[in-house]
Amino acid sequence: MKLADNKATLSFSNGGPSVDLPVYQGTVGPDVVDIRKLYAQTGMFTYDPGFLSTAACQSAITYIDGDKGELLYRGYPIEQLATQCDYLDTCYLLLNGELPDAAQRGDFHKLVLHHTMVAEQMQFFLRGFRRDAHPMAILTGLVGALSAFYHDSTDINNPRHREIAAIRMIAKLPTLVAMAYKYGVGQPYMYPRNELSYAGNFLRMMFGTPCEDYVVNPVLERALDRIFILHADHEQNASTSTVRLCGSSGTNPFAAIAAGVACLWGPAHGGANEACLNMLEDIQAQGGISKVGEYMEKVKDKNSGVKLMGFGHRVYKNYDPRAKLMQETCNEVLAELGLENDPLFKLAKEVERIALEDDYFVSRKLYPNVDFYSGIVQRAIGIPVNLFTGVFALARTVGWIAQLNEMISDPEYKIGRPRQLYTGSVRRDIGAAK
Ligand SMILES: CC(C)(COP(=O)(O)OP(=O)(O)OC[C@H]1O[C@@H](n2cnc3c(N)ncnc32)[C@H](O)[C@@H]1OP(=O)(O)O)[C@@H](O)C(=O)NCCC(=O)NCCS
Repeated sequence: MKLADNKATLSFSNGGPSVDLPVYQGTVGPDVVDIRKLYAQTGMFTYDPGFLSTAACQSAITYIDGDKGELLYRGYPIEQLATQCDYLDTCYLLLNGELPDAAQRGDFHKLVLHHTMVAEQMQFFLRGFRRDAHPMAILTGLVGALSAFYHDSTDINNPRHREIAAIRMIAKLPTLVAMAYKYGVGQPYMYPRNELSYAGNFLRMMFGTPCEDYVVNPVLERALDRIFILHADHEQNASTSTVRLCGSSGTNPFAAIAAGVACLWGPAHGGANEACLNMLEDIQAQGGISKVGEYMEKVKDKNSGVKLMGFGHRVYKNYDPRAKLMQETCNEVLAELGLENDPLFKLAKEVERIALEDDYFVSRKLYPNVDFYSGIVQRAIGIPVNLFTGVFALARTVGWIAQLNEMISDPEYKIGRPRQLYTGSVRRDIGAAK
């Protein structure tokens, strides 16, 4: 970390001694005030629920400029990665810091694509679930269960072991997500095929059956690969922070990733694309485009508790760059499948048009986020709504691992242990209450 020229001085209105706090600079983005010694110097904690102003770590992986609507993985703009690289290149970049050269690319692709099979016992875990279990409940269990298979061979303090765990997770997540789907629909699991691309293999494991050959559609393959790239990492969001916090105890990395999967499930996070599609289907059922205005009034009414799903973001206060790329993919996929007149897509465009003109959304800088269009694309590909978050988890696994491994190799890393402002009862005795 680079010390800035200035420092912060914190003083108190009751005349207590003021303290000087060092300021550090990143390469871009806001500086940070270092408060690590604040408690020792003043006996006080800072209070920041939701981490609105708190950097919990230093990281060199992903940078978001929310005001500009910019997203960089290791310095490269998401637009360039989405159009010039594939998902596995992006994984290599996130894990290693640089894009692979031709030889590294070949080796990495081969490595991941040859570790896609999961232990045969995995299917017995699945049998313990109800057929209608939510795929995220299943995935949380299956990813956690991976730790049982690799616990003794995984020493998180050994960089080589961390690398092996990373490859295993990236390679096996598509297999597990597809198994969760197949279990729900009662079809046989499809074993992975290593000659297919990462996205192509996933499509086949999802939609192929043993009864006939499955031919991968290149447009859908590219679309899925792009969904994976756009979801690969997003700096210190809720699930990534969960993975870091969970992993900070030194737990098994598969267990830490399972914690990330559990966190991602929520509708304010990865569950938003599912919630967004459900919302569009609701508006459609109530009458479609003619009812958008009415729905917007409900969204703007604070007492209704209704939010426009797929809109707004903690960090982006401008158009989410991923939403633009997703909209482009949406057009391609719908054209390929002859669904240009898909009513939900038209409805989504109308919702977006109205919201972008409405003062409620404009004044609060609420723009569509990636989830607004990704649900429509996934639905068109044939992915069921309740599996959307599972696909997101598959794609985000690399980000979680890259962040976890970065934390473990950081010499300043400590177990995460937030403080609190205690507002409960002061010490009292049971005797007095009886
Ligand atoms: C993502 C999200 C949780 C960010 O929350 P946040 O950073 O805490 O933003 P805030 O809740 O402070 O929002 C600021 C204002 O915009 C409003 N707002 C934010 N998102 C909104 C939405 N989707 N619909 C309607 N109003 C919204 C808030 O009510 C608040 O209004 P106020 O200032 O009058 O009280 C929030 O925008 C949201 O719930 N969006 C829908 C879910 C979603 O798409 N999540 C995916 C994220 S990738």
